[in-house]
Amino acid sequence: MTDSAIKIFIIEDDMFYSKLLKSTLDKVDRYDVRVFGNGTDAIQHLYEKPDIITIDHNLPDMSGIEILRKVREYDPNIVPIYMSGQDEIQVVVQAYKDGAKDYIMKEENAVLLLQKSLENIAENLRLKREIEELRDKAIEYGKYSSIIGESPAMHKVIRLMEKVANTDLTVLITGESGTGKEVIANALHYNSNRKRKPFVAVNMGAIPIDLVESELFGHERGSFTGASSKRIGRFEEADGGTIFLDEIAEMDMSLQAKLLRVLQEKSIQRVGGSKTINLDIRIIAATNKILADSVKEGKFREDLYYRLQGFLIKMPPLRERGNDIIILANYFKSQYAKNTRQPELALTGEAARILMQHTWPGNVRELKSVVERAIIISDNDKIETEDLIFSDSAM
Ligand SMILES: Nc1ncnc2c1ncn2[C@@H]1O[C@H](COP(=O)(O)OP(=O)(O)OP(=O)(O)O)[C@@H](O)[C@H]1O
Ligand SMILES: [Mg+2]
Repeated sequence: MTDSAIKIFIIEDDMFYSKLLKSTLDKVDRYDVRVFGNGTDAIQHLYEKPDIITIDHNLPDMSGIEILRKVREYDPNIVPIYMSGQDEIQVVVQAYKDGAKDYIMKEENAVLLLQKSLENIAENLRLKREIEELRDKAIEYGKYSSIIGESPAMHKVIRLMEKVANTDLTVLITGESGTGKEVIANALHYNSNRKRKPFVAVNMGAIPIDLVESELFGHERGSFTGASSKRIGRFEEADGGTIFLDEIAEMDMSLQAKLLRVLQEKSIQRVGGSKTINLDIRIIAATNKILADSVKEGKFREDLYYRLQGFLIKMPPLRERGNDIIILANYFKSQYAKNTRQPELALTGEAARILMQHTWPGNVRELKSVVERAIIISDNDKIETEDLIFSDSAM
């Protein structure tokens, strides 16, 4: 794909000139060149997705600037090059303002200049495509490799996750510490059609209370002491994508009321601002608390609780996942070997039995650190029982 053809449209009414351009550019194998004698024809063929368009300033049916605007509106990824017979500064400025990548004066060396310009753009396109391919691969990778587990309890979670991923429903993920709530939140995003947009994670327990509102909603300049400039909040950052509100139970009551409003209206106001900003966001929340208890204790709004419960994913504790303990241990073991470029150790049967017997108060996170510690402690090519060290409490 990186070496695939580059489709070029030439919009030029001067027959002599368009023939000259075409015959020159046709010599480059990668270029797939089409000529249009007027703007209307070219616009009607934009669905063919040209990569680059050269636009002549004076055309029989419309001005080059008009075409330029239409092209930009149709698809801002198309790269326009503006060509003109005259050297009028207003035209040059206007062309650049309307998104032309380059401006070429039709003088003696115009064809050469165009060739150079096309070479540069083609190289940029190649790099851009390469990056996109890598990103797609990363997305595919994130999608299939990050949730490890074959137990019925995890199958249930994965099935639910896949069902709800591509909807805009608000999802609440609950479960003990270290069970993989964030892993599921990530998977929800990367299995949705929002995957190319931001995934913004905010830990409600980690932000000081007096900063949290501005962190989430942003603020206008001068809205409070210290707000010397405007700030975009996390919700706005997540526009088009997903916001993950981790440790939602830590959210202060007054902020809960504001969050409820965001959920209902899908819009926010910056702190100190009066403008309503509409957002297209998917909200995922997580907690290791029993929210119903927080409601009873008067620490969590009941209305928000019901709103969040709309779609609930409960993460099973590791001790209820049976053989997943071994599958995960092997996974972390091989990840560690890959990351450190060291040979992978074997897990002895006896060590595996000990892992299966442990109750894992710190769940998957604890398992990961026990495995990594064992690898470091081991002084041969195996993980044995004496290499396994458990901490007394959840980590
Ligand atoms: N099913 C899984 N497959 C692979 N790795 C996992 C899985 N579940 C959890 N992990 C890993 O375990 C660690 C803890 O997971 P995560 O941070 O998602 O837990 P959590 O439920 O959000 O914990 P906490 O409540 O403490 O925030 C991470 O390193 C994560 O990558
Ligand atoms: Mg977490």
